[in-house]
Amino acid sequence: MDHTKAPVLDALRAYQAQEQLPFTPPGHKQGRGADPRVRAALGDALFDADMLAVSGLDDRTQSQKVLERAEELMADAVGAEHTFFSTCGSSLSVKAAMLSVAGPHEKLLVARDAHKSVISGLILAGIRPVWVDPQWDPDLHLAHPPAPEAFRSALEQHPDARGALVTSPTPYGTCADIKAIATLCHERGLPVIVDEAWGAHLPFHPELPTWAMDAGADVCITSVHKMGSGLEQGSVFHLQGALVTAATLASRADLLDTTSPSVLIYAALDGWRRQMVEGGHELLDGTLRRVRRVRAAIEEIDGLHVNDRQDFCGPKRAFDLDPLQVFIDLSGVRFSGYDAADWLRRNHRINLHTSDHRRINATLTHADDDTTTTRLLNGLRDLVASADELPPAPNIHIPDPGDLRLRQATLPRDAFFGDVEQVHRRSPLLPCSPTFLAVRPCLQGPPCRCRTPRPTDLGGGHRRRVPVRT
Ligand SMILES: Cc1ncc(COP(=O)(O)O)c(C=O)c1O
Repeated sequence: MDHTKAPVLDALRAYQAQEQLPFTPPGHKQGRGADPRVRAALGDALFDADMLAVSGLDDRTQSQKVLERAEELMADAVGAEHTFFSTCGSSLSVKAAMLSVAGPHEKLLVARDAHKSVISGLILAGIRPVWVDPQWDPDLHLAHPPAPEAFRSALEQHPDARGALVTSPTPYGTCADIKAIATLCHERGLPVIVDEAWGAHLPFHPELPTWAMDAGADVCITSVHKMGSGLEQGSVFHLQGALVTAATLASRADLLDTTSPSVLIYAALDGWRRQMVEGGHELLDGTLRRVRRVRAAIEEIDGLHVNDRQDFCGPKRAFDLDPLQVFIDLSGVRFSGYDAADWLRRNHRINLHTSDHRRINATLTHADDDTTTTRLLNGLRDLVASADELPPAPNIHIPDPGDLRLRQATLPRDAFFGDVEQVHRRSPLLPCSPTFLAVRPCLQGPPCRCRTPRPTDLGGGHRRRVPVRT
């Protein structure tokens, strides 16, 4: 296929060159109606490229197959049989994949270290999850993806399961042994969904962990906005094999999808594919070299330790590690990851991704260069030099995962829509999560001391209003 072409970008430029005139949404009409202050902040180019996908980018019957051709090129670039673009993030793609594999009351094996979109998928579909436990590292206080053995045992105990879902890489960059898990499932004729939201770059360099489709996944979901050059919400999901059909997957995505997809997001997905096919290997080669240098330089800073394969991979740990997720262990400096991240933003305008009670993480991508990594290193050196300004990390007792495991008494869907009592858990580190409130707003009882705003009543007339324990 001709990967110099970018059907969405080409159609977008043609629309602009032909001075097509919209009597359609979006109402700003190529920015003419937008407030100049908004245009000044966002740029005219953004409004100029924001158009309808149908009767805009393509004609009323989509006769030019603009989107279809872009998706075919993406599939060809990564070696999938079908690719679908989503402008609603991997949150939609994950749910579409789940709904394609299991329906109400059917079982799905789910690695317990799952993103909230997986929980939403369980609720929406009425799926009965069979939880597969991650591998817990009690020394590092970290969960790695479940071992294939855990999937084998779950499959043996639940021969009526319809498939499996595993997250790999995790936001910590740790990867599951997808090949072994896929083999176990395929021996039983079951499909495997891999939530590879953090792996947009994986197909384009052999030194990175094997991407899910090469390892045998049936459906694989990727957020191109996370590790690639996609705009926020740009996600793709890929399909191969015959265990899930393209028509099923498309219909499930259609059920959840917007009818107003953002052409901006499509365009960035299309451009990312061309960028990677044409120069991805070289770009990622440079990125990997840079990451090695940055990791070594951080290791030189007194008290900091960069987590590497020795820490995260091996027996009872992860199968592989994406080196672009640079995790820095702070045990040697005795302040928490949360405080370190806040300090770096406040004092150096540096924003980190994941932070936890003992780690911070800098996610590096092909977009980083000497300027960005020098700022990061200077910020980290200053952080350590300013250790006195940061409070000591609280001593966190993390129970053994076995002590936290709950008996699953009902379907997540029934629990979500059933009568519930809201119990606010106070954490020394975080305000109450609004998600706790969303299920059952604070309506009666003693006033909630939570600092998060109260949502309005979700309006389920059948729900019993319950007091809130604080
Ligand atoms: C593992 C995982 N899956 C899915 C998602 C959802 O992706 P998106 O933000 O593109 O909706 C995320 C987001 O952080 C994630 O970490």
